[in-house]
Amino acid sequence: TTTQVGIVGAGPAGLMLSHLLARRGITSVVVDHRSRSEIERTVRAGILEADSVRLLTDTGVSDRVLREGDQHHGTYFAFGGELHHIDFQELTGASVWLYPQTEVFVDLANAREAAGADVRFGVSDVTVHDITGEQPSLRFTDTDGSAREVRCRYLVGADGSHSMCRHEIPQKHIRQYRKEYPFAWFGILCEAPKSAPELIYNHSERGFALISQRTDTVQRMYFQCDPDEDVDAWPDDRIWSELQTRVGLNGVELREGPVIDKAVLRFRSNVVEPMRYGSMLLAGDAAHTVPPTGAKGLNLALADVRVLADVLDDALTRNDDDVLDRYSQRALDRVWRSQHFSYWMTSMLHRLPQSDDFDLRRQVAELRSVVGSTAASTHLAEGYTGWPNT
Ligand code: DHB
Repeated sequence: TTTQVGIVGAGPAGLMLSHLLARRGITSVVVDHRSRSEIERTVRAGILEADSVRLLTDTGVSDRVLREGDQHHGTYFAFGGELHHIDFQELTGASVWLYPQTEVFVDLANAREAAGADVRFGVSDVTVHDITGEQPSLRFTDTDGSAREVRCRYLVGADGSHSMCRHEIPQKHIRQYRKEYPFAWFGILCEAPKSAPELIYNHSERGFALISQRTDTVQRMYFQCDPDEDVDAWPDDRIWSELQTRVGLNGVELREGPVIDKAVLRFRSNVVEPMRYGSMLLAGDAAHTVPPTGAKGLNLALADVRVLADVLDDALTRNDDDVLDRYSQRALDRVWRSQHFSYWMTSMLHRLPQSDDFDLRRQVAELRSVVGSTAASTHLAEGYTGWPNT
């Protein structure tokens, strides 16, 4: 097979890129070693920035987000014994939408299928070749066991944080920035009604907790835990007792129900510069990961491929590889703002292992400054709802 762009990874980044390229008349083939149902079963974050929603609706991927998603005009911060509200809409004119990443994936996969796109789930042994040349290729074993080769003009690695594509780049050609965090999140899905109309980011001396939502009957919650925490050591009653204690310190009470999914999510910050090597470009988690606080990961991946579709179109039209350098130049500004935003939200709300009462008081003072000042809360609201596109 021959195509213009070979894409590794059929998550939201790879599928959205394929979709945006098709709208510009550019062909692509997308491969993923995971099956479609495997991706659908992975629980990810649930908040979409205003521009992410616009990208989904304006390009015809999903109007379901508007019907089944929930528009949130703001969010709650619970700390220092009280509940505070930040109204994004009032501060910035923008809002966010609660619409799980899994649903974004389903909408994209359906849209690509309806368009007759070449998207191959469940393939194996995916490798990339001649990535510095003018005719790189993808090789893989198809679901029927046959060996395949896809020749293309450009390759895109949208293959997640463990990216095979990124590992193919010689170390001396890229710089990697990393930050480890000494804690993780214990994430649950439960069958319960909503505890509040919007999300609650909860600071407490026992550590962070986040009360998010999925539907009227299923909720998503997280609490800060040790990276080596064992999920089996947490039966439902222990989970609820820990969550209720943390939010109860701020006067919040949760509505409980059976826990239907639980997992420990480790996290770190990671950025690769530049996001290109030869004829291969990286997008989404393959190029950068952010800690989950603030739900920037998916939004950043969508912002990447919006820029990338533009740059690839230019490069193909002009037959000029130098144009590809503009991708990193344009995308990295948002990547680093998102790194800072996610780091800031994380450091303001989590308890560090060696922290003392001084640190807790200092964090509460910072949170008070944020909610108590229109300038400071506007700064937070701009980051949360998403900065303008570059
Ligand atoms: C969710 C996850 C986040 O990291 C966040 O900041 C907000 C919401 C979620 O899964 O719903």
